Amino acid sequence: MEEFIERILITEEDIQKRVRELGSAITRDYQGTELRVVGVLRGAFIFMADLVRNIRVPLSVDFMSISSYGDECETSGIVRILKDLDKPITGRHVLIVEDIVDTGLTLRHLKEVLSTRGPASLRICALLSKPERRVVQDLRIDYLGFEIPNCFVVGYGLDYAERYRNYPFIFVLRPEYYSDAQREGKGQGG
Ligand code: PRP
Repeated sequence: MEEFIERILITEEDIQKRVRELGSAITRDYQGTELRVVGVLRGAFIFMADLVRNIRVPLSVDFMSISSYGDECETSGIVRILKDLDKPITGRHVLIVEDIVDTGLTLRHLKEVLSTRGPASLRICALLSKPERRVVQDLRIDYLGFEIPNCFVVGYGLDYAERYRNYPFIFVLRPEYYSDAQREGKGQGG
């Protein structure tokens, strides 16, 4: 195993099994409709690629790229849109796909922004959630992969300083491989 891996938190097999289950639930819930799956770049790109291959209703994909104001570890909740959706979502059934919900501030803001555009429905699918870090208590995650403890995780799309996104499992990085700010438990940075 690579020297930067402290421990594997979720194996590739467990991720793939859960993604299949999420795909089945989404397929069941959206039967008879057409779906617009919106990925939040960059962290969600791997999860979303696996997820859509497990959904069996007609769908199209679009992407947003956002950046939160604040320092690199702590989200402020104000989201700056770096790349907006290419297509309008008015009258569409929209599913936002995220890699991780930490404080929940990013998704609350994103949900507010997208609901002003008149979608037929707007739901959230997230692979990971850290309930201990939640600030937005009433954020509903309609489809959730795993609840995890408050530790800094990377892999399967999640990064530290843009690295480790390419690993097919979720793991905890050895402390010597990340900065003091992360060691103090601030943020996720997924
Ligand atoms: C991560 C993650 C969410 C956000 C969650 O993104 O993908 O967008 O942080 O944090 P919150 O619940 O506290 O708001 P990040 O800014 O690390 O960008 P990335 O997806 O490009 O890695």
